[in-house]
Amino acid sequence: MSVKIHIASDPHTAYAGDICAMIEVAARQRGTGIAKRKPEYITMKIRNGNSVIALDGETLVGFCYIEIWENKKYVANSGLIVNPDYRGQGIAKKIKAKAFELSGKKYPESKLFGITTSLPVMKINSDLGYKPVTFSELTQDETFWSGCQSCPNYDILTRNERKNCLCTGMMFDPEHPNDKPKEERAQNIQKFHRWVRLKTASFLKKIINPLKFFI
Ligand SMILES: CC(C)(COP(=O)(O)OP(=O)(O)OC[C@H]1O[C@@H](n2cnc3c(N)ncnc32)[C@H](O)[C@@H]1OP(=O)(O)O)[C@@H](O)C(=O)NCCC(=O)NCCS
Repeated sequence: MSVKIHIASDPHTAYAGDICAMIEVAARQRGTGIAKRKPEYITMKIRNGNSVIALDGETLVGFCYIEIWENKKYVANSGLIVNPDYRGQGIAKKIKAKAFELSGKKYPESKLFGITTSLPVMKINSDLGYKPVTFSELTQDETFWSGCQSCPNYDILTRNERKNCLCTGMMFDPEHPNDKPKEERAQNIQKFHRWVRLKTASFLKKIINPLKFFI
């Protein structure tokens, strides 16, 4: 397997139909969480440099696109899909990382957000520095929310006056980026565990040493 991740461009428009079909199958299987899109929409995203495609030779491996809302106040990384034959190999992580980098370059001041019920996507987002937020912090643009109409849970969203639904809203705010990247946080956790081990050892020593006198 030699999967390459590209910022999609004109020649990739040939994949628009397959991308839509893959999204539709996944939406049907999961029953939630992915906005249905027409090939024309995907073609437009590819043409204007707002999407990321993963290919293994000529095989479509995955895709994700960027949407701009409220005059660049918000940017959503949406429509993430990975070919079922390639799942569980870190492809979604790589696609999202590329889309994150692309969004940061093209729209450095925009808040990045997504809504999802998918555990892998939540994991990827939080590794990138996204934090969970209420729907009130996301774009209020009607067109964004109309993408939820193809979701079977749309009635829950409308019943709750768009305050919440089964999806979790997540946001990366470039003005308040996550204070520490994942590796640094992991190092700090390791340091903390080491500190706990040392403290426990010295505490036990203090208890056991006086007891030795009686043994
Ligand atoms: C969701 C989806 C994009 C994930 O793609 P993927 O390439 O398999 O994901 P990755 O291999 O990059 O995994 C990303 C993380 O999620 C974890 N993960 C993957 N599949 C998982 C699962 N079924 N349950 C729990 N965690 C999972 C991975 O371990 C990894 O975490 P780590 O970095 O801590 O190890 C893919 O399953 C898919 O296309 N599903 C259908 C469409 C969809 O749901 N899109 C999301 C709409 S919001």
